Amino acid sequence: MTHFLLISMTQKLVIIGLELGALNKLKQLRLDDSSIDKSFLHMVGVLTSLNVLTMSHCGFSGSLPAQGWCELKKLQEIDISHNHFDGILPSCLANLTSLQVLDLSYNHFNGNIALSQLSSWTSLEYLSLSNNDFLNPISLSWFFNHSNLKVLLSENNKIAFEPNSHGGTPTFQLEFLVMSNCSFDGLKRTPRFLQYQYDLQVVDLSFNNLVGKIPTWLVENNTRLVCLVLMNNSFTGPFRVSNDIRPNIRYTDIAVNYIEGPIPANFSLIFPNLEYLNMSNNALQGSIPSSFGNLVSLWILDLSKNQLSGTIPMHFAVGCDSLAFLKLSYNNLSGQIFPTNSNMTALSYLYLDNNKFSGKIPKSISIVSYGSIDFSNNYLSGMIPTWMGNMSGLNLLSMAKNQLEGPIPFELCKLDLQLLHLSYNNLFGSIPSCSNLSRTEFLYLNKNSLSGLIPSSLILNTSDLIGLDLRDNHLTGNIPHSIGSLPSLRILLLRANHLQGRIPIQLCLLQTLNMLDLSYNKFSGPIPHCLSNITLKASFQEDDLRGLSSGLGSTNSFLPSLPYFETKYTTPPDEEFPRIHWGASLNVKPEAEFTTKRITYSYKGDILQYMFGIDLSCNRLVGEIPPELGSMSNIRALNLSHNSLSGPIPVTFSNLKQIESLDLSYNNLNGKIPLQLTEMTSLAVFSVAHNNLSGTTPDRKNQFGTFDESSYDGNIFLCGPPLQNNCTKMRPPSTMPVDNEGEEGDIFMDMGVFYISFVGAYITVLLGIVAVLFINPYWRRAWFNLIEVCIDTCYCFVVVHYHKLFNYRSA
Ligand SMILES: *[C@@H]1O[C@H](CO)[C@@H](O)[C@H](O)[C@H]1NC(C)=O
Ligand SMILES: *[C@@H]1O[C@H](CO)[C@@H](O)[C@H](O)[C@H]1NC(C)=O
Ligand SMILES: *[C@@H]1O[C@H](CO)[C@@H](O)[C@H](O)[C@H]1NC(C)=O
Ligand SMILES: *[C@@H]1O[C@H](CO)[C@@H](O)[C@H](O)[C@H]1NC(C)=O
Ligand SMILES: *[C@@H]1O[C@H](CO)[C@@H](O)[C@H](O)[C@H]1NC(C)=O
Ligand SMILES: *[C@@H]1O[C@H](CO)[C@@H](O)[C@H](O)[C@H]1NC(C)=O
Ligand SMILES: *[C@@H]1O[C@H](CO)[C@@H](O)[C@H](O)[C@H]1NC(C)=O
Ligand SMILES: *[C@@H]1O[C@H](CO)[C@@H](O)[C@H](O)[C@H]1NC(C)=O
Ligand SMILES: *[C@@H]1O[C@H](CO)[C@@H](O)[C@H](O)[C@H]1NC(C)=O
Ligand SMILES: *[C@@H]1O[C@H](CO)[C@@H](O)[C@H](O)[C@H]1NC(C)=O
Ligand SMILES: *[C@@H]1O[C@H](CO)[C@@H](O)[C@H](O)[C@H]1NC(C)=O
Ligand SMILES: *[C@@H]1O[C@H](CO)[C@@H](O)[C@H](O)[C@H]1NC(C)=O
Repeated sequence: MTHFLLISMTQKLVIIGLELGALNKLKQLRLDDSSIDKSFLHMVGVLTSLNVLTMSHCGFSGSLPAQGWCELKKLQEIDISHNHFDGILPSCLANLTSLQVLDLSYNHFNGNIALSQLSSWTSLEYLSLSNNDFLNPISLSWFFNHSNLKVLLSENNKIAFEPNSHGGTPTFQLEFLVMSNCSFDGLKRTPRFLQYQYDLQVVDLSFNNLVGKIPTWLVENNTRLVCLVLMNNSFTGPFRVSNDIRPNIRYTDIAVNYIEGPIPANFSLIFPNLEYLNMSNNALQGSIPSSFGNLVSLWILDLSKNQLSGTIPMHFAVGCDSLAFLKLSYNNLSGQIFPTNSNMTALSYLYLDNNKFSGKIPKSISIVSYGSIDFSNNYLSGMIPTWMGNMSGLNLLSMAKNQLEGPIPFELCKLDLQLLHLSYNNLFGSIPSCSNLSRTEFLYLNKNSLSGLIPSSLILNTSDLIGLDLRDNHLTGNIPHSIGSLPSLRILLLRANHLQGRIPIQLCLLQTLNMLDLSYNKFSGPIPHCLSNITLKASFQEDDLRGLSSGLGSTNSFLPSLPYFETKYTTPPDEEFPRIHWGASLNVKPEAEFTTKRITYSYKGDILQYMFGIDLSCNRLVGEIPPELGSMSNIRALNLSHNSLSGPIPVTFSNLKQIESLDLSYNNLNGKIPLQLTEMTSLAVFSVAHNNLSGTTPDRKNQFGTFDESSYDGNIFLCGPPLQNNCTKMRPPSTMPVDNEGEEGDIFMDMGVFYISFVGAYITVLLGIVAVLFINPYWRRAWFNLIEVCIDTCYCFVVVHYHKLFNYRSA
């Protein structure tokens, strides 16, 4: 006799009614992860003894059948989560009066949960409605008679819980309540029924836009509370809890609210066993209480984006010896980082960026033996210590925007870094020719005073390099030809150095490059024709993207991960319930700057993929602009200004459909502006000023209607709107020369033609008037009267005109 049938894992099941009938004594049927035909649902009713039916991840879709399975009157547990069911719940479900566990999560159920059904499920202990499309408001008071209800999960629903209009008090005592990201329609206050709860262990009300004082009474009322998540609401007020000790609380996330005031000094007394504390994105003031050092279990602490001031207390640095993750970024903290030797031997992630820390980099941080360090945007001074080379497991090191000086120690080469960010310091000396940066993806050393050559060994050995930023230094020499051996390079920024020589054709091998900035150097010679090769393949695959955005985070296995809660509630309940797991992980996004539209934007993360730009401005480049550049159809910004480029503007540029900024100013370009350029419909900035261009300006259509004179300035032979030079005055279309030679002669010939036609027109008009006056005697009399009346005015008019004409000739 079969009482239990367990079918798990992915299996193809073919179940026919006959076989099912033989199983009529079956108590439990667990079919999770199987692929079952939906007709099974119509037949399952024959299993009249069934207590437990679980069918999660079975790929069902459509609505639940209204017959066939509602007859399972003995069912205590149903799990149909993670399917694609939609529609409303059939009303016959009200027959299932023994129901204790109902899991409908991760489907597309909508409509109302029929009230009749709810009221008949009086034995319900566990109800999960999470991640559905339940639409209509349910009053929570409908649950109030379910005295056995322990777990209520309803995150990511469109459920609009009604205000507590029915009043009354709930008969249940919940242990586990997750109502995150429910649009509490009309109810922006913490649900009132919570005030009657004293047995809660897990409360998650995040992403609800709740207002009012932060409900610290939840902590006070519920002595067994383990986990409190009130993240991303609009709670205000100080986080002050009465003096009772709450030894069970291990996880508190109240980030992204408007909590103000200081952190209570005896915080650690009240929450002695805290493991995870996230109070980031609030308005906390005052200093970090020294008593934090008593939080010996604390593993992850995030106080970033507040207004905390003062120093890191000494007691904190020695006491929290379990701390693995410390983020104090974006505060007003000052003083030395870890003035004493710290006992935080587990510390792997230390984010102290955007504060006012000063002094030298303390030896005490050498305890961070792997993970990440971000000290950027502080006032750290002194040299980069050589012992940092012994922090061998370090993955990300950012000390940008400080006042560090001296050379980059060769010892740093020993680190197996993915990111080294030392920009905006006063570092000098040469770039160490590291030979083992094989894992380095981002090397940002811009805005220092580094000199010497770009070491070719460095480049040869960084095959994973994605971003190299050496802008604003004093580097000399050529771009090493080994640059072509960086197959993943997407960002190459060498702006404002003293680099020279030709632009190496090896750059053309970098087929994945997004941003190339060689401006403000002394590069000479022509622009390589093959340069167009670099973005030919620039259409990114989804996978490439993921690689980039997780560029710094592909270390996921090292990063501490965020907890999630295991809520699986089976009969009988799990001993350890509720359990905290550490699952999802953190991620850091890469960053790069690029100048386009004459403004420097900071591109972060995924947006990098959309940015394709080449800046070769302010060099000594000669020769013609390679027409091949017109095939870089993905390019968004191209700046070739301030060089000595000659020849015409390639007609092929009209293919640059994505281009937003094109600057060719301050060169020796000649010939006419191709009229097809108006096909560049994304253009926002365009300049060909200060060249030797001639002929007419492009039609004022599409984007070209928005460009003013400054786009064309300094080309004396250019005419047409928006310039003042009138093409018809300068050179009538009929006699427009087609060649570019004899520019000097052109203007004289044009003026000659102009005079001839002017005189011709004058005589014609004069003869016309005389003829009219001769024919009509009335007009003749009127005409001579008029002459007498305004003889003076006409005189002035002629004088003015003469002057204008004179001025024009001398111009
Ligand atoms: C059970 O559901 C059917 C509808 O499928 C309904 O006709 C019947 O009245 C229900 N029985 C009870 C006891 O609710
Ligand atoms: C709950 O029970 C009380 C009395 O037992 C009753 O008056 C009330 O209507 C019930 N509420 C619901 C929603 O069923
Ligand atoms: C909140 O729910 C909406 C849909 O209702 C969803 O798009 C969004 O991603 C959810 N937010 C979070 C943080 O889960
Ligand atoms: C919970 O706290 C609220 C507000 O302080 C209070 O009104 C209520 O009586 C408390 N409930 C319990 C069960 O202690
Ligand atoms: C907070 O939630 C809102 C929507 O509920 C969302 O737009 C916003 O990005 C969230 N803020 C953070 C910091 O997660
Ligand atoms: C915490 O400090 C407050 C005053 O700041 C005091 O009322 C309370 O008793 C203290 N709690 C403990 C546990 O010491
Ligand atoms: C703290 O909360 C913020 C806002 O939700 C989040 O971005 C951050 O990752 C959290 N910190 C940790 C360490 O989990
Ligand atoms: C940071 O501290 C300084 C004094 O040290 C103060 O002038 C400034 O207003 C503080 N800034 C913030 C955002 O609290
Ligand atoms: C580190 O902790 C131990 C006890 O765990 C203590 O004896 C020692 O003094 C601490 N170290 C420092 C530098 O305070
Ligand atoms: C760094 O490590 C080397 C060998 O592993 C050792 O000789 C040296 O003393 C260490 N330096 C410091 C400053 O700890
Ligand atoms: C550029 O691409 C063309 C065509 O794909 C190819 O023939 C040429 O060799 C490439 N040039 C370089 C330098 O890779
Ligand atoms: C240019 O000349 C034409 C014909 O002479 C005239 O219609 C037009 O208004 C002039 N444009 C400007 C900008 O002077």
